[in-house]
Amino acid sequence: MPATVIVGAQWGDEGKGKIVDLLAQSSDFVCRYQGGPNAGHTIVRHGETFKLHHVPSGILYGGKICVVGAGCVIDPGLLVRELNDLEERGISTEGLRISGNAHLIMPWHVASDSASERRLGKLQIGTTRRGIGPAYADKAARLGIRVQDILDAKILRQKFETALAEKNRVLDEPLEAGDLADRMETCAARLRPYIADTSLLVDQALRAGERVLLEGAQGTLLDLDHGTYPFVTSSNPVAGAAATGIGIGPTRIDSVVGVAKAYVTRVGEGPFPTEIDGPDEARVRELGEEYGTTTGRERRCGWLDLVALRFAARVNGMTSLALTKLDVLSAFAEIPVCTRYRLPDGSETDEFPAHQSDFHHARPVYETLPGWREPLDDRLPPAARSYVEFVESALELEVSMIGTGADRESVITRDQPAYSRS
Ligand code: IMP
Repeated sequence: MPATVIVGAQWGDEGKGKIVDLLAQSSDFVCRYQGGPNAGHTIVRHGETFKLHHVPSGILYGGKICVVGAGCVIDPGLLVRELNDLEERGISTEGLRISGNAHLIMPWHVASDSASERRLGKLQIGTTRRGIGPAYADKAARLGIRVQDILDAKILRQKFETALAEKNRVLDEPLEAGDLADRMETCAARLRPYIADTSLLVDQALRAGERVLLEGAQGTLLDLDHGTYPFVTSSNPVAGAAATGIGIGPTRIDSVVGVAKAYVTRVGEGPFPTEIDGPDEARVRELGEEYGTTTGRERRCGWLDLVALRFAARVNGMTSLALTKLDVLSAFAEIPVCTRYRLPDGSETDEFPAHQSDFHHARPVYETLPGWREPLDDRLPPAARSYVEFVESALELEVSMIGTGADRESVITRDQPAYSRS
């Protein structure tokens, strides 16, 4: 495998955590390349539940190097709490490496995330209010505080002074640079041992033939450049960003595994053509336990959208697809799948509209596939297999893994006999 990217193919929450968890077992490095505490993985290990926002889930295996790359944004207080929690529960955090170039989420970022959502009123994005957008905005404006800044108290204080000269003009409660620097000291001491040149480490690992997993957060349709702007996150979840977010060349990436649910969910605002209108939405939500890991919000639920998925396969250069939560569809006698969009001028397309107005007004054209109405175990009933094959032929892409249940073991991989065509 040497370098494999795992990328969300929809609006996030595709079940990447489980696929990463599975592939992490045979990886040496597990690296996050973008995003911050807006993402969340819940991992159940030997009956114990771990909720991770910053630290890659590979940490739970021990013996892996887990990287938080330069493309990530980090809430230092939250990261320290996550590390303490892991250690209190007997998990070693020794393998963690944090890029000195990653940016820090500061109290003013969290405050302004909520304030701007309030200001937008009806036009709000529905962010996770974790300060993600404002932190990335300051990074681009060159006002950001980076992880490496905490290594030097003098530099940190200067950076705080520069940033606060600007931020205090709009903050309800102005912050004092010295105060903040003092408060950061404990965090700095706790995080210092983990800070490393992660670009160099990953390069060395690849040269040594080690297996590196590059894990994206959120999903393709939340990508700042290629997603459903402005209802997007403020970083680039797409696979190409794995190279910039970690600091390796794109030629070092060998494969890109897209992860999509067998249906679609979305949290937050924004257009969603296949959103279910009617009682089936609640049914999917209930069966799929579709509530946000980070915010607890109800997720909006819809039928599988192959137009959007073909787009995701294209912009990520996917080499295979993992289709998760197929078992949730076992309850339905018939399953609609969107194969085309009808546009306002009456025309139909199977390409994702490049113009926002077309996408906002796109109506799904469905094909209805027969359901299987039986629980899935390690053998797929013929109708479930046909569902998977339908997806494969629409995407011209192999479905290499299928999620058939909530626990870690419930994944059928391509090489299993249950999956073979007969
Ligand atoms: P932000 O990333 O908090 O700025 O939120 C921007 C948009 O991305 C909102 O619609 C969020 O609901 C969505 N979002 C951010 N992180 C996730 C995630 O991990 N899963 C699903 N949606 C997310």
